[in-house]
Amino acid sequence: MASSSSLIRRTVLVAAIVAMVTTGEADEGGNQREFDYFKLAMQWPGTYCQRTRHCCSSNACCRGSNSPAEFTIHGLWPDYNDGSWPACCSRSRFNEKEISTLVGALDKYWPSLSCGSSSTCHGGKGSFWAHEWEKHGTCSFPVLQDEYNYFLTTLNVYFKYNITRVLNDAGYLPSNTEKYPIGGIVSAIQNAFHVTPEIACSNGALEELYLCFYKDFQPRECAVGSILLQDMSLSKSSCPKYVSLPEYVSPGRAKTEWTMSSVPQIEAL
Ligand SMILES: *[C@@H]1O[C@H](CO)[C@@H](O)[C@H](O)[C@H]1NC(C)=O
Repeated sequence: MASSSSLIRRTVLVAAIVAMVTTGEADEGGNQREFDYFKLAMQWPGTYCQRTRHCCSSNACCRGSNSPAEFTIHGLWPDYNDGSWPACCSRSRFNEKEISTLVGALDKYWPSLSCGSSSTCHGGKGSFWAHEWEKHGTCSFPVLQDEYNYFLTTLNVYFKYNITRVLNDAGYLPSNTEKYPIGGIVSAIQNAFHVTPEIACSNGALEELYLCFYKDFQPRECAVGSILLQDMSLSKSSCPKYVSLPEYVSPGRAKTEWTMSSVPQIEAL
């Protein structure tokens, strides 16, 4: 899932490799030190869904007019101040039964935007939620102590910091023709929440937006190391000065068809 955001995280990994070697961070830990802060990663479906080449029931891009039209959750990631992060912190395996009361909300606000399965921590493959819980969620201990709390808390933080609303209110509306200054998007979030978001792009389109939080979920700046990495032109995910915020387009339509058309593109499959 999310090749470009994993690219950022890989890029961070390269920069932080010395730190990781010296702290002896293990991929299948259990003995990693406690994280420093949370990063809430949100994805823009308009950008992800452009890449959908085939459909399946697990991909929310394939829901036609019911596909998400606002930022959705990618994950809540415990991070270290040096730009590295813990991963796979316990042997706890994802169990969908533990979050059965949340599935309705998660389907809507935390859907997978691809058909592929994701790697989990114990050599297997699983759902998007399984990946996020095993890889990241298990590392949010002791602040979030179990799977249910991880998903519930993430939903609540996401509801409280509605970046779709902030961008809409500032005039940054989904469009397949407009481009918006990245500085304006950053300012709108700063004005609303008094912190600087990190932003990742793909082919000039806004793909992910990150907000960081202290362990008590008060907003804070993300680690300096990762902000610097966002500016590196080495990274494919860095954003140009003007970015697009693409409208949702049903998968399977030819690219030229929608980029040259101005009719509303939301339609049932
Ligand atoms: C965020 O705000 C938008 C625009 O006001 C609204 O449509 C949407 O329902 C809100 N999302 C959440 C999760 O509250």
